[in-house]
Amino acid sequence: MTYPRYTKLAESLPATVPFVGPEAAERAMGKPFDARIGANENVFGPSPKAITAMQEALGGIWQYGDSENHALRHALAKHLSITPDNIMVGEGIDGLLGYLARLLIEEGDAVVTSDGAYPTFNYHVAGFGGVLHKLPYKDDCEDLPALIAKAHEVNAKMIYFANPDNPMATWCKGADIVAALDDLPEGCLLVLDEAYVEFAPEGTAADVDINDPRVIRMRTFSKAYGMAGARVGYALGAPELIMAFNKIRNHFGMNRASQAGALAALADQEYLSQTLVHVAQARLKITQIAEDNGLTTLPSATNFVAVDCGRDGAFAKAVLDGLVARGVFVRMPFVAPQNRCIRISCGTEDDLAAFANALPAALIEASK
Ligand SMILES: Cc1ncc(COP(=O)(O)O)c(C=O)c1O
Repeated sequence: MTYPRYTKLAESLPATVPFVGPEAAERAMGKPFDARIGANENVFGPSPKAITAMQEALGGIWQYGDSENHALRHALAKHLSITPDNIMVGEGIDGLLGYLARLLIEEGDAVVTSDGAYPTFNYHVAGFGGVLHKLPYKDDCEDLPALIAKAHEVNAKMIYFANPDNPMATWCKGADIVAALDDLPEGCLLVLDEAYVEFAPEGTAADVDINDPRVIRMRTFSKAYGMAGARVGYALGAPELIMAFNKIRNHFGMNRASQAGALAALADQEYLSQTLVHVAQARLKITQIAEDNGLTTLPSATNFVAVDCGRDGAFAKAVLDGLVARGVFVRMPFVAPQNRCIRISCGTEDDLAAFANALPAALIEASK
């Protein structure tokens, strides 16, 4: 007998990670990156008040965090004019997507997403035996009407839709999402990932009735609030669905310092506004650098920009490899034709100067 006796499902899964982290790449290269602008982290960092709150929490780190995330849920509820019963806090959106898949997906259940959309969702669905149906982007945007039509066809339990989208940074109007809800098939949950919504133009956040059982929205402190390493995300939805997470979640998964940091970050909306200005400036700078090199960019509602390298995926990959070899960590979409682009996260002036320095040589090398 072989030990241990894995589930059939676990045995069938490939050993895979949704993303290879920059640290792993640094270890492989034997040196650190000069610019870390590939993972859509927020280089401008958290509010100083959040840093102080996390530092102050460290003395109490021998204590488990509050398993109910009471203070943060109440503060979010006040901020969003909803009730704490509409909010589940978890270990980033990534953690919450895993819980959601665990709640809804049995082997063989159908799930619909876009081909090339955020892969961690797919990873979780596959981990519970779900069957993913992937549809192409339309004009570099996720195509909600097509996703809904597919959900009817395959009797999907979930549709995943990110607004704004990663990796293209495109977006649609929140009102269009709300209008599409009536077209959802019976029993199909729309998972609306709003990881980047704070960066997006007014009207992008879908003004969904918070008690509507057909939608769950996911948000995070990783992006606009600059706290990716703290791992704090939250889901917004109808109380019954939110309560269901309590059946399967890791109740003590949040750490105290992160809870305190997120609370302080939320309270410092002035710092958030400054971050949004820095990010908007960095987006313009990335566009300028791309144009200086004869490239174009896609409009962005996020803290990253998709730079169109103007040719196919192999060319964009060669450009990316050239940037990585020159110490600039960036990523790119996985699927054609979106993989004609490379994806550049908003960096500091130094980060973007490193990008500007490395790009011309990377382009020449890729053209050879
Ligand atoms: C669309 C999308 N959703 C979720 C996440 C992850 O969020 P979190 O850090 O809260 O797990 C990312 C991070 O890149 C993302 O791009």
